Amino acid sequence: MAGRQPPYLDVDRLIDDRRNRILVCCGSGGVGKTTTAAALGLRAAERGRRVVVLTVDPARRLAQSMGLTSLDNTPRLVPGVPSDSDAGDAGNGDSSGGSLHAMMLDMKRTFDEIVEAHADPDRAAQILANPFYQSLSSSFAGTQEYMAMEKLGQLRRAEEWDLIVVDTPPSRSALDFLDAPQRLSRFLDGRLLRLLVAPAKVGGRAYMRVLNAGFGVVTGVLTKILGTQVLRDVQTFVSALDTMFGGFRERADYTYQLLRTPGTAFLVVAAPEPDALREASYFVERLAEERMPLAGLILNRVQRPPAAQLSAARSLAAAEMLEAGAAPYPLAVAALRLHADRMQEAAGQRRVAEHFTAAHPLVPVAEIPAQPDDIHDLEGLRRIGQAFGSR
Ligand SMILES: Nc1ncnc2c1ncn2[C@@H]1O[C@H](COP(=O)(O)OP(=O)(O)OP(=O)(O)O)[C@@H](O)[C@H]1O
Ligand SMILES: [Mg+2]
Repeated sequence: MAGRQPPYLDVDRLIDDRRNRILVCCGSGGVGKTTTAAALGLRAAERGRRVVVLTVDPARRLAQSMGLTSLDNTPRLVPGVPSDSDAGDAGNGDSSGGSLHAMMLDMKRTFDEIVEAHADPDRAAQILANPFYQSLSSSFAGTQEYMAMEKLGQLRRAEEWDLIVVDTPPSRSALDFLDAPQRLSRFLDGRLLRLLVAPAKVGGRAYMRVLNAGFGVVTGVLTKILGTQVLRDVQTFVSALDTMFGGFRERADYTYQLLRTPGTAFLVVAAPEPDALREASYFVERLAEERMPLAGLILNRVQRPPAAQLSAARSLAAAEMLEAGAAPYPLAVAALRLHADRMQEAAGQRRVAEHFTAAHPLVPVAEIPAQPDDIHDLEGLRRIGQAFGSR
């Protein structure tokens, strides 16, 4: 029984529409967010947009092919893509002043830049040298998501590009991208930190009063767990950062609002597998609750066996017949069995995709076929992009 067909997600129309200024590729871990973001960026640039792609942790070879050899936290022009300077020389006659910049998010550098922008030089130096800051800025869960949003806000304010394509961090859950920044600013703003800061800020006598009020128990326990030095680091860090608390929250809010404005579109990337599509489902529902604009679902690594008119059952039957015969034709048998596997996998993928569409019948879907190899160069990205131009 044929399942319900989802509406078609016309990616080319999405990237050609100049009102669209930000595309965010979300999805659970390993589904192809980085690849999709890079392929979208390349295709949009080659169709005439001035694009910057913000990638997070791209595979090394892919990064190299995009000219991203150092983590300097600034967008670099991607070589081999028609740009303003060589417009008209694109080889496809299609160049109309588009360009592609790409950058890798350096979470620690982005954090440092915020501190430098918000604190006077002495204080900034003090914060940057603080061991607690150093571990927070490079490892606290949520920092990467927060920094991706922060960087997006910066790129948007720069007004240098007319399309920003955002890749999101490799979180387990797609929702982390939306939740983590708030979680981080709540943490920085949180009661635990305030409590830790209190003694450092108010000095000895007040500290005693706090102690008497019972907080000392907490601080005492923390001193035991963390050690005096670490606790002191935390205290100096947080009091130094105190003036920035409002700043952090405001900035997280600013970018969050940016995600809601017209001109932003979310693309949920998923592999045609139950777990990835379940995550995609949660994400789609969450976007609706937040009134954030969903463009559609990108199903990546879709199995499209050639010779699809030969069913898995007939292919297996033929393999068995050959095996039973006098001349076994081992290569033909192997090919038939492989074909049967692919057909079964494709059928399984269709079932989970139909399940998604049954739950979200209005969400448009585009597909990217599974490629035989990893995508590690512009040519590979172009091939992925071409999938967007055909049904
Ligand atoms: N359609 C495809 N066909 C073949 N390989 C693919 C396809 N899409 C992605 N890949 C490969 O799958 C791997 C994971 O892709 P990618 O890095 O884009 O996923 P991701 O969602 O960004 O992962 P993470 O959550 O770790 O950031 C890469 O090696 C990539 O080359
Ligand atoms: Mg990635």
